[in-house]
Formats: sequence, C-alpha cells, structure tokens
Amino acid sequence: MQNIVIDQSIEDLIKEALEENNATLVAHYYVSADLQTLAEKTGGKVSDSLEMARFGQNSNAETIVVAGVKFMGETAKILSPEKRVLVLDEQATCSLDLSCPIKEFSEFCDQNPDHVVVVYANTSAEVKARADWVVTSGSALKVVEKLHNEGKKVLWAPDKHLGHYVQSMTGVEMLMWDGACVVHEGFKAEGIERLMEIHPEAGVLVHPESPKEVIALADVVGSTTQLIDAVSSRPENTFIVATDNGIFHKMKEVAPHKKLIEAPTMGEGADCESCAHCEWMAMNSLEKCLDTLNTGNNEILIDNNVISRAKHSIQRLLDFTK
Ligand code: 13P
Ligand code: SF4
Repeated sequence: MQNIVIDQSIEDLIKEALEENNATLVAHYYVSADLQTLAEKTGGKVSDSLEMARFGQNSNAETIVVAGVKFMGETAKILSPEKRVLVLDEQATCSLDLSCPIKEFSEFCDQNPDHVVVVYANTSAEVKARADWVVTSGSALKVVEKLHNEGKKVLWAPDKHLGHYVQSMTGVEMLMWDGACVVHEGFKAEGIERLMEIHPEAGVLVHPESPKEVIALADVVGSTTQLIDAVSSRPENTFIVATDNGIFHKMKEVAPHKKLIEAPTMGEGADCESCAHCEWMAMNSLEKCLDTLNTGNNEILIDNNVISRAKHSIQRLLDFTK
C-alpha cells in the first residue's frame, strides 16, 4: 500500500516537472511498465525506435526526455538540434553501439567505397554521420530491398543477425560488421523448439536481432511494434515471444486474454547473460526521470557537423517510411 502512495506521488512530481520544463517523455517498450504508463498519461509516447524518433521531431515540446538507451537520445537530438534532449542515465548504452567504434567502422567504409553504407539505428551519432542510410528493425527490409532493386551493394553494420536476415530476404550483396545484441543473441532454437512441442498451438514471435536458427522458427519476425501488433491481430491465443521481456507490458495491455510465454535464453539450466532483459534499458527508472528533469543532467550534446551529416541519413529513412 505504501509503495502505491510513493509511486503516485513521484508520478505527480514528474508530471509537474514535465509541464514546468515544457517537456515530453518518450519511452521504449523495453523500459519499466511505470515509465511506459507515465509517458502515455502525460501525452508522450511509447514505441519502437523508429516512431520514438519521429515523435520527438514532431513534438512541440522544448525538451525531449528519452527513457531508453543513449542512441535513442542521440537520434532525437540529431533530428531536433534546437531542442534540449535528456536521457535518464548517461551510462545506458547498447552492445551494438559499443561493438562499432567510429574509427574502425570508418576504415571499413573507406576500404569498400563501392558499397552503400547502411547502419542500424543502434549506433553512435558519429557512425550515423558516416552512413548513407540509417534503418531500424521495422524498416531495414524495405530500405535494403529498394537498394537491391537499384543494383546497389550494401555495407551493413553493426548487427550481424539482423544483417543475415535482411540479406536472406532480399538477396542483396552485403558486407557485414560483426556485432550482436546481448539480449537477443541469448535466445536458443533448442529451447524454443521444446516450448513449441508443449504448446503446438502457439504463434512464435521473434525480433530480427535474434540468431538465424531462432528466426527460422518464427511465424512473425518484426520490430517491437510489429510484434505487439501481431499479438492483437493474429488468431492464436498463445504466443512464444523472443525479445526483451519489457515488451510484455504493452502486449498484455493490447491483448489481455492472450497467453504470453517468454522464449528461454541460453538453454535449460544454463546461466543466461541477459535473461531476456536489457541491462541498459533496466537502468531507466521513475526516480532518475524526476532527477533528470530537476537537475537538467544527462543532456545529449553532439557536434554540429556530426548532427548535420547524421541528420541526412536518418531523415531519408523518415521520409521513406512516412
Ligand atoms: P525496435 O526498433 O524494434 O524497437 O528495436 C530497438 C532495440 O533496441 C531492440 O533491441
Ligand atoms: Fe541494444 Fe539489445 Fe539492449 Fe536493444 S536490447 S538496446 S539492441 S543491447
């Protein structure tokens, strides 16, 4: 009972602080349920990384508060350099972003000048500035299909699993960076197959950052938004879900009567590295949200030259997916 009172009061304080700062709260589906609820209650947005970017850009707020990870804050800043962008914890990053340092990536691009450089949104502002296109999990297939139809060869970074998936679906000639998401890489086909035997009626939903053996078992492969839509629109009443378990909050909200089963990580009895929850997404909290708004700490600052180059490759994605 006491907890509920504390939660309510911190939510009210955040709401006031958002109003005082002319700020809006944008959250990813993987952050805690209380932050997702608050974002929606205060007129902000909960979504996948593509729509987070679009919402921040279209918002009239002077400050965008991003509950997610660093690359999401940077994308918001690149698209709205005139706005103040705050993240809840500066240390909240992403294994894909960490796997792709700008110096090595730039050398890779220089060695392959005949390839169109396509990078996943889960990268630093500098890597985006070096790219021709930025894509998200919800848009990668369409963008690469278009490039393939134009006869282009693609240099892809940093997620090798999403890259292999896109390559297998489009047939494009692709050079690949060797990065992975620590959360999705933990899902194993063997464990999911065992669950499928127990629940033969279940639909299997997989985020494309997962290994190809896991993707091969999927009824639906898609971004977080696409997987949530699948839970409400598909006829199955049970789903095995291979993505970060933060997504269950929204899935339960859109389809409260459906049964959702977490895909197992790292096989039965083994220690999992991430246990289906991103340690960086988990660094976001209501307390940090209030602190960030009160102090103005954790502001995203990016060099103007980097912003203008990175904006070009993100804006063409937003225009293409309009
Ligand atoms: P989405 O764009 O599908 O929301 O994915 C972002 C992400 O970081 C998944 O791990
Ligand atoms: Fe990065 Fe994976 Fe966390 Fe998404 S879930 S932010 S890809 S580490």
